[in-house]
Amino acid sequence: MQRSKIAGIGYYVPKNVFTNEDLKKYMDTSDEWIQERTGIKERRYADRTGETTTTMGVEAAAIAIERAGITPQDIDFIVFATLSPDYYFPGCGVLLQRAMKMKEIGALDVRNQCSGFVYALSVADQFIKTGMYKNILVVGAEKHSFGLDFSTRGRNISVIFGDGAGAVVLQPTQKDGQGILSTHLHSDGESAEILAMYNPGTHANHWVTDPVAKFDEAEMGQMFMSHAMIDDAQNFPNMDGPSVFKKAIVKMPEVVHEALTANGLTAADINILIPHQANLRIAQFVQQKLQLRDDQVYNNIQKFGNTTAASVPIALCEAWEQGKIKEGDLVCLAAFGSGFTWAGALIRW
Ligand code: UT7
Repeated sequence: MQRSKIAGIGYYVPKNVFTNEDLKKYMDTSDEWIQERTGIKERRYADRTGETTTTMGVEAAAIAIERAGITPQDIDFIVFATLSPDYYFPGCGVLLQRAMKMKEIGALDVRNQCSGFVYALSVADQFIKTGMYKNILVVGAEKHSFGLDFSTRGRNISVIFGDGAGAVVLQPTQKDGQGILSTHLHSDGESAEILAMYNPGTHANHWVTDPVAKFDEAEMGQMFMSHAMIDDAQNFPNMDGPSVFKKAIVKMPEVVHEALTANGLTAADINILIPHQANLRIAQFVQQKLQLRDDQVYNNIQKFGNTTAASVPIALCEAWEQGKIKEGDLVCLAAFGSGFTWAGALIRW
């Protein structure tokens, strides 16, 4: 069977470093609280007007494409994962296609938040396996800093997020045993509102038990985004952190086990696990449950925070650049986040 391999990988983080001390200027928090609960020391924030989710994706993509030894014109499909798109619509995929002067190829946007990159990789993998495309660009990028509540009200969520982008080029491989061995995708929408941005949207309180905005009283044209929604911070992400934490530490090891079992492997076979960088404590739980040594797990949340769809490709690229991933290594990706959605992938590098 034809498999796909990662032929090129790149990442980009903005220059602007935002420390925990910097956050104290906006909200009641402390370096001690943030480091103790999340492991995060600092994160990067995009230039306010000079950088967007797409432009960061372009930076990462340019590196991945160059390392794959091809040009943007060789790319025949784009899969772009983000929860912080430049526009509500159209998606970032077409903006990247335009910015990189690519051919009139297909561009698909994936909305699976923290597991978005692994979902996107899985979609691209299927297109390679069927032989439909030969050079697929997969991007995960986020500009969280533009859409967070920087008041104390939003401190439980705003301190964890950072900006950045990661990208890979997928190509077919004929080499025996090499490439993406399998991908595993899951969801449980029961808890969809536990980590969500409620508005703007078209739900009209359909799923909301205690609504702030009253749609039956609203004028036509004022239902998508109202002053009441803004006053209630519904334009910012909202999270019941402990509930997300509890589910993540169960589902992430579970999906890793599922991937290993599907390939007749065990945790001891993993050369490196790249967990979604949600919280260092979650990654440590996952490591403990899988009984992995420190050198079998790669974390960089300490300096980049949680970059959602970008976190897995950024960490994967950094680990590769540091020589921690070599040809033949078994690389495992695992992610969990809003939806809830979670996903895993096993790659023979
Ligand atoms: O990647 C997307 C998926 N997201 C995740 O995986 C996140 C999962 N959840 C978490 O990582 C953790 O729940 C958080 C790091 C977000 C929060 O940590 P926690 O230990 O669960 O804290 P908490 O929300 O239960 O809040 C504990 C206390 C509260 O104060 P009281 O009520 O005990 O007085 C919060 O108000 O900590 C307070 N608090 C803060 N204090 C200082 C919450 N955020 C902050 C803050 N600085 N930034």
